Amino acid sequence: MSPHADSPDGAADNHSPAIQQACPVFATDCLEDSHFPELENRSHLRYTPDDELYDLVCVGFGPASLGIAVALHDTLESRGPPIDVPGLNRSPKVVFLEKQHQFHWHAGMLLPGAKMQITFMKDMASMRNPRSEFTFINYLFKNDRLAEFANLNTFLPQRVEYECYLKWCASWFEEVVSYNQEVVKVVPEKSSTSNGKFTTFVVTSRNLQTGKLESRRTKHVVVAAGGRPNVPPPFPSKHSKVAHSSRFSHVYNKLLPHTQHPYNVAIIGNGQSAAEIFNFLHIHYPNSRTRLLIKGGALRPSDDSPFVNEIFNPARVDSTFNRASELRASSIREDKGTNYGVVRLNLLEHIYETLYMQRVRYGNSPEAEVHWPHRIMPYRCVTEVENSPVVKDGVRLHIRDQSPLYLSEVPDATETREILDFDAVFVATGYHRDLHETLLQDARHLMPRGALNDAKWEVQRDYRLHFADNTVGDDAGVWLQGCCESSHGVSGFPLAQFPAYGTSLTRSGI
Ligand SMILES: Cc1cc2nc3c(=O)[nH]c(=O)nc-3n(C[C@H](O)[C@H](O)[C@H](O)COP(=O)(O)OP(=O)(O)OC[C@H]3O[C@@H](n4cnc5c(N)ncnc54)[C@H](O)[C@@H]3O)c2cc1C
Ligand SMILES: NC(=O)c1ccc[n+]([C@@H]2O[C@H](COP(=O)([O-])OP(=O)(O)OC[C@H]3O[C@@H](n4cnc5c(N)ncnc54)[C@H](OP(=O)(O)O)[C@@H]3O)[C@@H](O)[C@H]2O)c1
Repeated sequence: MSPHADSPDGAADNHSPAIQQACPVFATDCLEDSHFPELENRSHLRYTPDDELYDLVCVGFGPASLGIAVALHDTLESRGPPIDVPGLNRSPKVVFLEKQHQFHWHAGMLLPGAKMQITFMKDMASMRNPRSEFTFINYLFKNDRLAEFANLNTFLPQRVEYECYLKWCASWFEEVVSYNQEVVKVVPEKSSTSNGKFTTFVVTSRNLQTGKLESRRTKHVVVAAGGRPNVPPPFPSKHSKVAHSSRFSHVYNKLLPHTQHPYNVAIIGNGQSAAEIFNFLHIHYPNSRTRLLIKGGALRPSDDSPFVNEIFNPARVDSTFNRASELRASSIREDKGTNYGVVRLNLLEHIYETLYMQRVRYGNSPEAEVHWPHRIMPYRCVTEVENSPVVKDGVRLHIRDQSPLYLSEVPDATETREILDFDAVFVATGYHRDLHETLLQDARHLMPRGALNDAKWEVQRDYRLHFADNTVGDDAGVWLQGCCESSHGVSGFPLAQFPAYGTSLTRSGI
């Protein structure tokens, strides 16, 4: 099958797109772009024409896939190029398909001053091989900032610098990344010589520049597509004044064009994203009125204390994976406060101080609080969203307010209803990590118990998808990266685990 069967623009040749296009990655908005010499950074992974059979196609090129790319490069490096990977007598034929037009790491939430949530040591390489070229320390060294970074006395770089580090790593792999490719399905296929087994997969993607579908054949697939925004009902997924937090920095200045204007803005959610947006608006829109609507009673701090943080140790994955499923589910719930619906303590304290200063300025009584510019409104649930009849092009929220049940000083208080109008609403309600369920629709007949309606794909310890016995050849398979929390625990996706993933894939012979 031609890899570009549907694409008139897809004529494949043997020249790397990176060479043809004179390294467009270097034209990113990274801080040190001008310091990237062309093609100086070139990994051991080589371009493969799209009509050849790949060893590995990775869906998505975020940190999970980048970790795999780095681990493959390091494996090849350690054996001296041109070297092979176990089971292959040549360099692996690999491509990463990424829907963004260049490497970005959650660019929609790259807010000024936002810090990393974990130590920089859990980078693309250090935990697997601290002597790798791709450690964050080496990145600082190569960019002549190691001494100054050390003076910062921190393990938590700003996210903007860490994205530059990730872009620097990504720039090594330009030859093997195809940007503007949104993967839409992964379909197993048999060959005439495979004894009835499925031995390859066809990965179909939409070229977002041409709109045309393209297909690539491969023996192995990694799905590492990250999260897709969770926009729960009743919030509309498409509305000119309602945006998910993942798009915040792309849209806020269109939704709120005048920084001195007294906009009314709602933020929904009580995680890090909601808190960062709330805080950002206080600083950059000094005359705005903001309302942070949260389900519970208070913002809670993320727990990154050392004993608890051990759940992220790579060695913990074995015990989590082998735990009885109910026990595993309850311990994952117990560990939720390390990551979800929580806010880093220093930001939480900063927001508290902002709100406290309103007590000084506007008064401390409940009556005064109603008029504060910025408020956290607890025990709130939005029940209906409609166009506002009073704010031009604005949004009206119907809200169930259960705070009297918890906070009223009189007995038998009941919940109430509120109607509030806003210029814009930011929905910071987290992510779903289940794109593989959609991409693998056409493979469901290969599920171990057949394609039952509500069945979900399961993975083995090495993140390999569980197909029914004897249906898929030994030298073929699909791996999931970054969406295995229910089987591998919360450490199954943060940056901490990525180097380990890469290692397990190379061990598997990819
Ligand atoms: C704002 C924010 C900050 C975070 N900070 C931290 C942190 O400091 N530390 C930490 O450990 N974790 C952090 N996280 C958690 C985050 O999940 C990880 O940092 C990391 O980004 C996960 O990497 P990933 O590759 O699995 O997913 P992603 O980073 O989401 O990358 C997935 C990639 O796949 C692409 N993609 C998606 N669908 C398709 C498709 N159909 N076809 C082709 N490409 C596709 C996406 O465009 C994306 O580039 C943060 C998350 C957010 C939202
Ligand atoms: N600086 C940084 O490094 C940075 C910045 C932002 C995010 N992050 C990371 O990104 C990941 C995601 O964070 P996030 O804040 O985007 O998402 P999140 O942690 O999943 O939080 C989403 C919040 O939305 C709430 N929610 C869900 N549905 C809701 C509804 N219908 N109404 C009201 N509230 C609802 C959830 O409450 P329930 O839990 O009760 O459902 C939860 O509190 C985390 O790992 C976080 O650490 C990092």
